[in-house]
Order: sequence, then structure tokens, then C-alpha cells
Amino acid sequence: MSTKTSTTHNDINEVLSGANWWRQAAVYQIYPRSFSDSNGDGLGDIAGITAKVPYLKSLGIDAVWLSPFYPSALADGGYDVDDYRDVDPRLGSLADFDKMTAALRAAGIKLIVDIVPNHSSDRHEWFKEALASPKGSAARDRYIFRDGLGENGELPPSDWDSKFGGPAWERITEPDGTPGQWYLHLFAKEQPDFNWGNPEVREDFLKTLRFWSDRGVDGFRIDVAHALIKDLSEPMPSKAELPVEGTGIDGLVDGSHPFWDRDDVHEIYAEWRKVFNEYAPPRTAVAEAWVHAVRRGRYASPEGLGQAFNFDLLQADFDAGQFHSIITKNLAEAAATGAPSTWVFSNHDVIRHATRYGLPSDGGRHGQEWLLDGGSPSAVDVEVGLRRARAASLLMFALPGSAYLYQGEELGLQEVGDIPASDRQDPSFFRNPGVDIGRDGCRVPLPWTTEGLAFGFSDAAAHLPQPEWFSRYAVEAQDGTPGSTLELYREALRLRRSLQTEEQLKWLNHTDDSVLHFIRPNGWQSVTNFGTEPVDLPAGTVVISSSPLTDGKLPADTTAWII
Ligand code: GLC
Repeated sequence: MSTKTSTTHNDINEVLSGANWWRQAAVYQIYPRSFSDSNGDGLGDIAGITAKVPYLKSLGIDAVWLSPFYPSALADGGYDVDDYRDVDPRLGSLADFDKMTAALRAAGIKLIVDIVPNHSSDRHEWFKEALASPKGSAARDRYIFRDGLGENGELPPSDWDSKFGGPAWERITEPDGTPGQWYLHLFAKEQPDFNWGNPEVREDFLKTLRFWSDRGVDGFRIDVAHALIKDLSEPMPSKAELPVEGTGIDGLVDGSHPFWDRDDVHEIYAEWRKVFNEYAPPRTAVAEAWVHAVRRGRYASPEGLGQAFNFDLLQADFDAGQFHSIITKNLAEAAATGAPSTWVFSNHDVIRHATRYGLPSDGGRHGQEWLLDGGSPSAVDVEVGLRRARAASLLMFALPGSAYLYQGEELGLQEVGDIPASDRQDPSFFRNPGVDIGRDGCRVPLPWTTEGLAFGFSDAAAHLPQPEWFSRYAVEAQDGTPGSTLELYREALRLRRSLQTEEQLKWLNHTDDSVLHFIRPNGWQSVTNFGTEPVDLPAGTVVISSSPLTDGKLPADTTAWII
């Protein structure tokens, strides 16, 4: 695991089944509450996932990444965890989890679970104990409690904002009923931040990692991996003094931000690595770290988590120049560090890429402006969005490194932009009025059938309303249908399995600047036309294309693979 391996196309199957399976994997993210409901309560569950293992197998993915399924009040879609070593009773039991793991394993699919170490929920036993214990107690030390400022401690310890809007500090009522200390929450107030300087916190997470590893989990996705260590020495800087962060990027290139991407966080992951390596094959991890590209390698080091998300493509426009420079930069980084690249266009936090690409000039702030304007479907050029999304995904599958997919993208599913306020669930909608509409639109339950109350997701109405037009995207409508997005993904993933290697790509020149063309050492070529006119294709056999060719040419917004 510590050295970069070189693989040819003949031994990729060994890579995918051996200890290095994660280096070139196609990983499918499941947002459990919105995937498939087995018991008719309108909420997706673990048994629902088990029932769909044949579907996952037919898709040809290598691994599933499961967003949180732990007991939770769902103040932040499950990223507010009450108990790290159990299953939300509404989603099932540990026995159901074991059945799902066994079914995935029998289908040859690995399992990655989400670990949320920056904060628990405010219903976690430890937080309840902290509230019931006095100031200065050991129980309070597991979180970040501080006295307030002002004559009676009535002002927060600093004026910092939470990521979801509103203050990052919440005042508590002491056990004797008087207004008391404040606790830090970088996210919702129901998500108190842990104090990672506390040895009990550190020990408990090691226990959690072993708990799931012992149950057969193959890897972990680490939520806000860059937030755990904070500098809270007083006086804390006011928010006006906090360094300005880049768009979507937390922290600074020198690690000096008080709470994002501090160097000491890597001590934690070095300890975790030792736990991962207790297992054969070693458990894997991928960091969610919205940090500067130059700092990403630390999270992805073999002594640390091994892999980190690169969100660069997800933040880019559908543009040849942007794609070229992002891919080149990230592959150079992979070559230098030995940590394989990761690629992703959609996840549970962002607007689906089939919609993003169909918005006029990207809809402003990656679609946020469109959402604020009411998220009307009529403002989206669905056809263009889908064509581009298919082209982008096919290009991604031809890149060296891991490809992360988000449930529904294999259906070409669009974002639901116009969810009524009364149905919204995301805390960023409630905490940031007029600025953030939240992330519910990409979390609407999947359509499995073209008809029915919840399009086959559940026998009851889905927990987030599904629009009528979901019918068109249903699995039932696409399964076995030539040219459907589902069949495109299946075929692409099938081909990828036999073609993928660890070796890098070489860019080839094309006469047109809006075309990206590269070749892998085994002769596998990918060509994408980001322009508006059909272009000539290089010689060779086209094995797949994201849209039909026109008179033997590669049309606009299309990718083709040639061998
Ligand atoms: C991560 C998750 C996001 C969650 C946040 C707080 O960014 O992806 O969904 O709200 O962390 O846990």
C-alpha cells in the first residue's frame, strides 16, 4: 500500500480483488434514506438496499459508499449521529446490516461506510452527559464548551458563523436552570463539535473503526476530515480577522486557519492508519477535505487516509480547457504522491450534474442562483444537461483513479429545484434564509418504476416529494432500453473493468481546441467534444459513445471510446 504500483490491463482484476481494489474502483454512493424502502414507511432502509443488490451488481460498480445510517434525529440528514455503533431503527438493525454486507460481498461489491468524526448529534449519550455535568467536568471536555463574553456570559465566545449559517456557538442551560456556557458547532446546532484533544474521543473512534471493520466493512469515507483540530486559544480572532477562504475551499495553504485543515489533524489519521492495517486486506479510507489542492496530498498519504476527494471537476464548467487543466494537475499530483486520483461530479451535497450542465452559464454559483430563483425545471435545458452529463461521466470512467458516482446519476436524474419550503429538510435551508436553498433537491428518493405512489421507491409517499417527471427517469423505463443512461453506465463500467489500469494517460492533439483526446498505454482512447459542431474521430473502433455519432463524426457534448 505504501508504494505506487504499476499495473497492466492483464492484472486489473487482481488489483480490483486484492488489497489495492480501492485504487481504481468505481464507487457508488447510496444515500440510504432515499434509495429503496422495504417496509412502506416512506424512508429508505437497509433491507431496501439488500433487495437492490442485483441492481447494483448489474450496474458493474466495485464498491458502495453508504452515507450515514446511524441512529439520528436527521437534523442534518444523518450527519448528526446519536450512536456510532448502531443502525437507525427506522432503517433496520445490525442484523439487517450484516445481511446487506453479506449480500454485497456475495455480489463481489465492497462496502465503504461514512464516519462523522468532527461532531456528534446533540442526542449522543456523551453530549447529554456533558449538559448534565458541571462546567469544567470531564464530560464537558469531550466537546468544546467555553464561557461566553460580556458581563454575564451572554455573548458567544467568538462571532464565528456556522457553515450552515447563523452563529457557530449555542448557549446551554446549566443543570441548575441558569443560562450557562456555550458550545461550538461548525455545522448545525444539533451537531456539537468534539474536542479531539480529549483522549477518550480519540479512543472511541478507534473503537468505532474496529467495530465496523470487524463486521466486514472494507473502507471508510471521512466526513469533513479537515475540521477536527482547532486552535481555540483565547482571545479567538473575530470573523473579520479570519482569513478569507476560496470558493468552496476551507483553510489556508499554510494550515494556519483556526479550524480548517490544521497540520495536527494528520496525527489522528496516522493512528487510524494503524487500525486499518490491523486488517487483511487493510481497510481503506477516503477523506472529504475541501482544502487547497496543495494540501490534499497529506490526507491521501499512505501513512494517513490513503485517498482524498478531489472536487475540482465537480466545481468546473463543462469546458475543455478547465477539464484539461484539472485532469493534468490531479494526475501529476497522483504521480508525485502515489495516491490514486479520485473523480466525482455529483454527491448528496451538490446540484446533480445533469442539471448543473443544463443551466444557463452554470446557473450562477454552481446552480445556487437558479435554486434561489425558485429552481424551476423550465429554466433547465434538460436535453443539453443530460448530454453533457453523460459525456462527462464517460470521460471520467476513462481516467486513471477512482470514480465516485452518486445514486441516480446512472439514470440521468435531474435535480428537483422547486421543492416547497414546507417539505424541505436540510438545515442549510433553515439556517441561511435567502442565501442557501439547501441540498434536498439531489436527495429526492429514486424512481424505480414509471408509476405508483412513490415510483417503486416505497409503498408510501416518499419522505421528500417526487415530481411527476421522475417517471421518465425510472429504472423500469431504462432497463434494457438501448441508448438509455442506465445502459450507457452499465456498458461503460463493464468495459472499464477490462480496460482500466494504473497507468497514466497521454494527451493527444486534436485540431479542434474544444476536443479533449487522450490515450492510455493499452491503446484505450477517450475523445470528448465540448464544442458545438461535430468533429472527426481518430482512427480505430468506437466501442461506446455517450450520444449516437452523426455521419461517423463525434457530435457536440459527446464522448466516445476508441480501441
Ligand atoms: C459533509 C457532508 C454533509 C454534511 C456535513 C456535516 O460535508 O457531506 O452532508 O452536512 O459534512 O456533517
